[in-house]
Amino acid sequence: MITETPSDPDEAFASLAHEAHVWLARPEQILDPDYLERYGALLSSEERAQEERFINAELRQLYRVSHALVRTTLSRYARVSPADWRFQEGEHGRPEIIKEHGIPALRFNLSHTKGLVACIVTQEIDCGVDVERVGRVKNLEGVARRVFSDVELEDLLDRAGADQEDRFTDFWVLKEAYIKARGMGFQLPLRDIQFRILEDGAAEMSFAPGFDDNPSEWQLHLQKQTYFDEPMTAFRLATALRCGENASRAIIVRDIVPLSEEALSSS
Ligand SMILES: CC(C)(COP(=O)(O)OP(=O)(O)OC[C@H]1O[C@@H](n2cnc3c(N)ncnc32)[C@H](O)[C@@H]1OP(=O)(O)O)[C@@H](O)C(=O)NCCC(=O)NCCS
Repeated sequence: MITETPSDPDEAFASLAHEAHVWLARPEQILDPDYLERYGALLSSEERAQEERFINAELRQLYRVSHALVRTTLSRYARVSPADWRFQEGEHGRPEIIKEHGIPALRFNLSHTKGLVACIVTQEIDCGVDVERVGRVKNLEGVARRVFSDVELEDLLDRAGADQEDRFTDFWVLKEAYIKARGMGFQLPLRDIQFRILEDGAAEMSFAPGFDDNPSEWQLHLQKQTYFDEPMTAFRLATALRCGENASRAIIVRDIVPLSEEALSSS
């Protein structure tokens, strides 16, 4: 059963003891210049400078909505205004919240692709999220030969057409969600991380000999996200959570277009 996230930040944070929440926004659906202006006002000066570096207006909007989504989402779980969150990057660029006085043990991860932004939030545990549009990558076989394990490649090459594109995107987002949860990006050898897709959005992960991690500590989730407006767009969303052995969290995914008025008004 999907329940509402409590509007009280303390209660919302408490719900993360047994859940992980993914908030989605569709940047291209946000047309009101007033909203966009207000999202921009939530960003730090570093974020605004980063946004300015994109020459393409669509990418600038994607960046702005993504970073406003992170800030407004985190403020659902703590008594901190969206503009007041401060972040620092880990060794490989993964942003984390600077834990100042009174800030609860929240973790998050962001993913954006043309047309969709996702932000996952957890209580303490390592988390990664990835969204990708099905059909974005062209040379599937060439990319798969570089980053898929032999078993994954065989699975891919046994398929054709739309079925192959779907399977490619599934493996891709699972790999990304995991490497993002580890915070290490390209430092991890992608071919050594292998997935098997199960029913109902679950997936199993295994590692090549010598790979330094324990797959049974991880919970993986994969889902289709299709929007039926013109043109129809299909995405895949994957999450990776280090829940620990024999532990799990319910994954709750919510679409918010546009970002909530209520979250903005708390800024
Ligand atoms: C960050 C990285 C891990 C993923 O990047 P990506 O898929 O292009 O982008 P996403 O939209 O999913 O994620 C970007 C966000 O992740 C976060 N991020 C940055 N570095 C990160 C890291 N090391 N770990 C986790 N998250 C990171 C940031 O919030 C970033 O948003 P920002 O750039 O607006 O600040 C990238 O550096 C990388 O290594 N990509 C691998 C690409 C690849 O070939 N994958 C093949 C998979 S089959």
